[in-house]
Amino acid sequence: MTSATIPGLEPGSAPTRHQELLEWVAEVARLTQPDQVVWSDGSDEEWTRLTDELLAAGTITKLDEEKQPNSFAANSDPADVARVESRTFICSKREIDAGPTNNWVDPTEMRATMTELYTGSMRGRTMYVIPFCMGPLGADDPKLGVEITDSAYVVLSMRIMTRVGPAVLETLGTDKFFVKALHSLGAPLQPGDTDVPWPCNTEKYITHFPEDREIWSYGSGYGGNALLGKKCYSLRIASAMAHDEGWLAEHMLILKLISPEEKAYYIAAAFPSACGKTNLAMIQPTIPGWRAETLGDDIAWMRFGDDGRLYAVNPEFGFFGVAPGTNWSSNPNAMETLKQGNTMYTNVAVTDDKDVWWEGLEGSHDHLIDWQGKDWTPESDGPAAHPNSRYCVPMSQCPIMAPEWDDPQGVPISAILFGGRRKTTVPLVTEARDWQHGVFMGATVGSEQTAAAEGTVGAIRRDPMAMLPFLGYNVGDYLQHWIELGKSADESKLPKVFYVNWFRRGADKRFLWPGFGENSRVLKWIVERIEGTAGGVETPVGIVATPEALDLDGLDVDIDDVAEALAVNVDEWREEIPSIEEWFSFVGDKLPTGIADEFAALKQRLA
Ligand code: GTP
Ligand code: MN
Ligand code: MN
Repeated sequence: MTSATIPGLEPGSAPTRHQELLEWVAEVARLTQPDQVVWSDGSDEEWTRLTDELLAAGTITKLDEEKQPNSFAANSDPADVARVESRTFICSKREIDAGPTNNWVDPTEMRATMTELYTGSMRGRTMYVIPFCMGPLGADDPKLGVEITDSAYVVLSMRIMTRVGPAVLETLGTDKFFVKALHSLGAPLQPGDTDVPWPCNTEKYITHFPEDREIWSYGSGYGGNALLGKKCYSLRIASAMAHDEGWLAEHMLILKLISPEEKAYYIAAAFPSACGKTNLAMIQPTIPGWRAETLGDDIAWMRFGDDGRLYAVNPEFGFFGVAPGTNWSSNPNAMETLKQGNTMYTNVAVTDDKDVWWEGLEGSHDHLIDWQGKDWTPESDGPAAHPNSRYCVPMSQCPIMAPEWDDPQGVPISAILFGGRRKTTVPLVTEARDWQHGVFMGATVGSEQTAAAEGTVGAIRRDPMAMLPFLGYNVGDYLQHWIELGKSADESKLPKVFYVNWFRRGADKRFLWPGFGENSRVLKWIVERIEGTAGGVETPVGIVATPEALDLDGLDVDIDDVAEALAVNVDEWREEIPSIEEWFSFVGDKLPTGIADEFAALKQRLA
């Protein structure tokens, strides 16, 4: 089939006159040879058409209209359930620019390999073109992109996660820059083939060309690998843009905390995947008089404003949250958001009356259809929902969205939190002495591995600023960028930096701190540190809260547990040193002197 005969490619049929975009679409169509090209408009009509198609294909199940209005549950291929870090590549021109933490292949070689894979890869399928915008369309410099995909599931999910529709094409005009994001499932159909419910390929590539600001993804239909506006654009490509342009693209939630005096504080927090960002973003404070509102649960773009403060914007439009563990007590605001409907679930369990269920959700069921589409009873071997099962839901449905969540100006950040999942060593909350010390804390974030990516669950890995899987360039340059941004700013206007750990455990393995809504007590201490009204103790690792300085009113916990959660155990920290040493030598020559200085000072304080 020549390009002229691919329906949807006829001259003048596209809803844009952006020449570069038109040429790229034609070029990809010629390469991938789809049955037709369809421009996505993000309309309700499109939603209905595509969900009908996926229902017929067995990819999704329609959920009960009363309990889960306009919502669907998809089951992925059992081998396509998480981001694939071992198949994620940063193909910068020079290997050193990808750095030691990323897989690198020469871009020319990678383009050749993937061009071969893309050849005919959309045969028998529809090629969708999705113009999208990360962040508000009304921004001075809106961050535009176009994803080409042969997955209807991706089209539906992109409508939830990003700003799509005719307004994006309008903003693109005839010549605005956009990030080219190409995605193919790698599952062409020959005439007469019957399709599978979740097409994908055992061979997977999630590739980024940072200098060209391009993304090529092949072989996976799963969220982070396939919804290219999210991790691929808003973190990996955007981090490279941010490095060049003097801003930050971070794996952070954005939260607004309102004191009883009605004073608002904006907080950004970076925790590795499945370590509590979405939970904290939607926190329901347990302290009387304190309220929280959310602005984002996964990604923050931050730049200095004219007033010298650091402003954050959430580039996303929806939540792509971890389902297991989400319930009416751990995260009531997420539950309320889901109750509004319009949700695409992936790899959750479905009840006999077509509601959803996952481990940790209220209610128990004698029978379910599990995430693999099989019958499940409480006696069954595995979990009913996959540990990395997700909900994809419009952010606007969250009952505690801050009114300013869509403001292109963003919000001024007063505190940055780093954290990870650590059973031992790391106190509940520690304040950095200054910006550089805070960057050191971020640089040494360590976390036990979760199910959000492939790998051994439980092993500790260093995850700088929770960005390890999402850095679009060399980690040493990235840490230097953080240090330099701090130096360029007015110190008194910089956010204060804190390190939190909700996950410390006692000798009997139980969590020492109740977490979730009770984390508001830690947030209150942080606010009081910003205001200079709360006490803390100087320790070798920073300023740590004391049990007395935390508001524990009405909290039903053993005070000894709180003390243990806050303890700085010098012996444990000494044990930490070789692993930091190992991590920094892995970072290599580009480790900033400022970070090396902080490490030397820490070792001295622990000696
Ligand atoms: P990504 O969306 O993958 O980037 O992850 P996330 O950081 O948003 O993770 P999420 O908020 O979904 O956290 C998921 C896991 O952390 C669940 O198992 C929660 O139960 C657990 N969790 C969140 N907050 C707390 C807490 O305060 N204490 C404890 N013990 N567990 C928590
Ligand atoms: Mn994330
Ligand atoms: Mn999340």
